[in-house]
Amino acid sequence: MTKTVFVLNGPNLNLFGQRQPEVYGYTTLADIEAGCVALGTELGLTVDFRQSNSEGTLVDWIQEARTQADAIVINPAAYSHTSIALLDALHAYDGPVVEVHVSQIHKREAFRHHSYVSARADGLIVGLGPYGYDLAMQAVARLLDPKPGK
Ligand code: DQA
Repeated sequence: MTKTVFVLNGPNLNLFGQRQPEVYGYTTLADIEAGCVALGTELGLTVDFRQSNSEGTLVDWIQEARTQADAIVINPAAYSHTSIALLDALHAYDGPVVEVHVSQIHKREAFRHHSYVSARADGLIVGLGPYGYDLAMQAVARLLDPKPGK
């Protein structure tokens, strides 16, 4: 049975490739999705890739993941820094959660240094650009199928 990973993306990430390219680069969210789907195939994971600008929609998707996803990769974008609702939803989810940020949030403004979601995430990948999504996919594959001693 293939396992399913929800890759959830928060507000303004639909503008990757156009938005502040000096910070986020030129890779689009569609490019990132294609990379996650291709890597998922290699790893034996079905990828359900989504983006919303709405906090409530992201909460609904995390709740849906309780029955529909074996793991979550999430870039909560600005809601990382504000949303207790996303944290509460993730606390109600039992599978592995990996948080991704394309930019190195700890080198940026102080308000980006704290993420509510990090209090639940099993791992964080920060500052490695779109490659962070590939690393997150590798991480959830490992968390879902741990090898002895690793
Ligand atoms: C981001 C970092 C957040 O601080 C910001 O609000 C984003 C993108 C990142 O991927 O680097 O929208 O999550």
